[in-house]
Amino acid sequence: MHEVTIDDKRFELFIDSANIAQKISETGKLIAEEYRGNNPVFLCVLNGAYVFAADLLRQIDIPAEVSFIKLSSYEGTSSTGNVQTLIGLNGELRNRHVVLIEDIIDTGKTIHDLLPRIKEKSPASVKLVSLLSKPDARTHEVTIDFTCFEIPDKFVIGYGLDYNGWGRTLPDIYTLAEDMQG
Ligand code: IMP
Ligand code: MG
Repeated sequence: MHEVTIDDKRFELFIDSANIAQKISETGKLIAEEYRGNNPVFLCVLNGAYVFAADLLRQIDIPAEVSFIKLSSYEGTSSTGNVQTLIGLNGELRNRHVVLIEDIIDTGKTIHDLLPRIKEKSPASVKLVSLLSKPDARTHEVTIDFTCFEIPDKFVIGYGLDYNGWGRTLPDIYTLAEDMQG
């Protein structure tokens, strides 16, 4: 599909599934090398990262645990900026090597708020892997250890990312059409 329409918005193909798979394979190998022997804990940040996590983790051929956490603050096509609640952070992280899996780092606020709450649990290390990053949208400084794609400051959907709950199941990534921005 070259275009999809959701509600009032038109989206155009931006990164196709073959391209995504290639990049994830490379990133998975890098992570596996870095964590071999360390039995890391991967924390997938729901909802958006579920597709990325499923594909990425199957490219990481080392023993690892996987857990899921969730927080929410996004409505429409821009962050609401409200304080977010965190659920699912139940397991023991003390002295563990933690890798957060995110779909996209936009303003950086979500990760900025989340990191201290992970560090409170005294892990041995915390790193961040994100499928997408919008460096131009950053309002909070964030170190991303592994990024698959750096993209312009445009709203995207597909491959786990949604617009008002829709679009997550698309196998490719789409961007809001130029005449729809703003
Ligand atoms: P941040 O706190 O501004 O970095 O935004 C983080 C969260 O907002 C991401 O984990 C996504 O769930 C959501 N988000 C940011 N940009 C987009 C986008 O372009 N499409 C869909 N969701 C997005
Ligand atoms: Mg997210």
